[in-house]
Amino acid sequence: MIRTHIPVLLDESINYLIIKNSGVYFEGTLGFGGHTEEILKRLDKRGSIVSTDVDFNAFNYCKQKFKDENRIRLYNFNFSLIDIIAKIENLKFFDGILADLGVSSFQLDNAAAGFSYSHSSELDLRLDKNLRKTAADFLNSETEEEIANVIYKYGEEKNSRKIARKISEFTKQNRIEKTDQLKEIISSVTNPKYLTKTLSRVFQALRIYVNNELDILKSFLENSVPVLKEGGRLVIISYHSLEDRIVKDFFKYETLSCVCPPDAPICTCNKVKRLNILTKKPVLPSVPEIRMNRRSRSAKLRVAERI
Ligand SMILES: C[S@@+](CC[C@H](N)C(=O)[O-])C[C@H]1O[C@@H](n2cnc3c(N)ncnc32)[C@H](O)[C@@H]1O
Repeated sequence: MIRTHIPVLLDESINYLIIKNSGVYFEGTLGFGGHTEEILKRLDKRGSIVSTDVDFNAFNYCKQKFKDENRIRLYNFNFSLIDIIAKIENLKFFDGILADLGVSSFQLDNAAAGFSYSHSSELDLRLDKNLRKTAADFLNSETEEEIANVIYKYGEEKNSRKIARKISEFTKQNRIEKTDQLKEIISSVTNPKYLTKTLSRVFQALRIYVNNELDILKSFLENSVPVLKEGGRLVIISYHSLEDRIVKDFFKYETLSCVCPPDAPICTCNKVKRLNILTKKPVLPSVPEIRMNRRSRSAKLRVAERI
């Protein structure tokens, strides 16, 4: 049986996104189609949605799920290609753009997807199987220092050096291929009290690195603004502090109309203000939502409007 995914901050995000029910919307993170389905419910028969997921399984699942729906067009592209997708669709602008970052519960719960330390599977962690390097390739080929840096930077894991040393000692003798090999290595240097948190931090760090998620997010934000219609909203749900920081800083920068040094006699930067922030503070899931879906607990929703 396929365990699907409970959409996070569903009403909150869609209420911000839909400004006209005959509009054309973009969802960059189709997943199990939870947000896309809700958007379709709110659109009239002239409205439509273009949705993409870089994971072929998610794309394929949604192709079936929405097979009788003619207001949707699906892509198996990286969302950073939003500008290319708009061109293919012959669209100058979308009326709203949504991204619900990270991975779905299906990816985390399904052993074959290899995203979770709870199952024994290949240590892959690529969302897009066309990417060259798996997490195992990275651990088997990189230096101890580089591994420690990735675990520290993307996982915010204090014991990154200790864990990286153990990984390097292991890979001098054997190749790491499986999730449970990595789990065993981490367990051997971690206090059992903190093991679950440490495992999830290390796996998350490797996933972010392997998929280059932070740079991709920056390109997506950058490429979204020119294809967002005036008055349209850019709605982003993030689950990781580094992602949220990127969204927050990008929105802030896009509200500025000048970035010249304060002592410059005249403005020479030609900066144009492109966004207004609609959520001064991020919107967080309610206590009942967190109770019903623990995975929502780290979610943060930020929204900006194109001017
Ligand atoms: C949290 S899930 C989205 C769940 C979806 N909103 C729903 O309610 O079913 C995130 C999805 O985004 C996809 N994803 C992550 N990074 C992506 C990227 N750069 N381009 C396209 N899809 C991406 C993942 O494969 C995953 O299916």
